[in-house]
Amino acid sequence: MPHTPPDPAAATPALRATGLTKRFPVSRFGRKRFIDAVVDVDLDLWPGRVVALVGESGSGKSTVARLLAQLIPHTAGTIELHGETVGKLSSRKFRDYCRHVQMIFQDPFASLNAIHTVRYTLGRAVALHQGLRGKAGEAAILALLDRVALRPAERFIDKFPHELSGGQRQRVAIARALAAGPEVLLADEPISMLDVSIRLGVLNLLAELRDEGIAILYITHDIASARYFADDIVVMYHGKVVERGDSESVTQHPTHEYTQLLIRSAPDPGRDGAVDTQERKETTDGDPNALPPTVDEDNHTAALTASPLESTSASQTEARP
Ligand SMILES: Nc1ncnc2c1ncn2[C@@H]1O[C@H](COP(=O)(O)OP(=O)(O)OP(=O)(O)O)[C@@H](O)[C@H]1O
Ligand SMILES: [Mg+2]
Repeated sequence: MPHTPPDPAAATPALRATGLTKRFPVSRFGRKRFIDAVVDVDLDLWPGRVVALVGESGSGKSTVARLLAQLIPHTAGTIELHGETVGKLSSRKFRDYCRHVQMIFQDPFASLNAIHTVRYTLGRAVALHQGLRGKAGEAAILALLDRVALRPAERFIDKFPHELSGGQRQRVAIARALAAGPEVLLADEPISMLDVSIRLGVLNLLAELRDEGIAILYITHDIASARYFADDIVVMYHGKVVERGDSESVTQHPTHEYTQLLIRSAPDPGRDGAVDTQERKETTDGDPNALPPTVDEDNHTAALTASPLESTSASQTEARP
């Protein structure tokens, strides 16, 4: 699904990180230590382009997203929004920043408040970011639901999260992010907790938003979906970027051991019974429910467990408080 990108030389990126670094203090056995979760990461997110951030568990992907979303302060480096360095944010400035940069989380059930209806959740976002309430607010909520293909919108507006499927919940979470009118979406494993049958539908929705000009960071373990969806792939390992390039080159000629491992553990179109992602898309277009998983996550996990990379990642994640 990668498309012809706008000429990167022609403009500034929507969001640029340079030398982004995050050191977490942790205390172990009463001694102060540090985890260098993100080290010297450069990342450009362009309007209308998708960058996939892949890497083993604990490699720092979510930390990059949280830093870019300004949910946590960085230790070193700079973040520029439309070429302007983002300094320390007061709560008002943080709200302004959120109008430009929004995050979508892995677990839509956790990110939506279970006691509130879709009307309440989206109504708050519409009031906060668009200043719309009452009839105008309701019209904006219905428009958002329609935009994320929850149709007819009237059928969804008074639902509670538990009355929706995982895919529908993630669409509501995306609608809430869209209420801010963001130029950048940071999607942290947005489809990995969804039933495999509905993953492509959500990915295609994100692709539509990309086509509308939104810059997207797509965090995933699934190299096949990264290849299918992203223009560029950035591979992280132990907090550092170890490989980057356009999706085709990175997946066809991976140089780093972890990228090679990811690709080996993805389905091989040449194997009996395996189907290439692109081919699947062509045969299932218009029917998002028909798509099987792009990568078998259990296989992926098994491959990782058997990997020499395992011991290092385990010791890193162990340190999480
Ligand atoms: N608040 C924190 N305090 C201390 N260490 C942290 C904190 N958050 C993350 N870390 C550590 O930073 C490293 C990177 O974590 P991060 O969650 O960014 O990895 P990830 O690539 O998103 O992993 P996964 O694929 O499992 O989601 C890990 O070693 C983690 O334990
Ligand atoms: Mg993560």
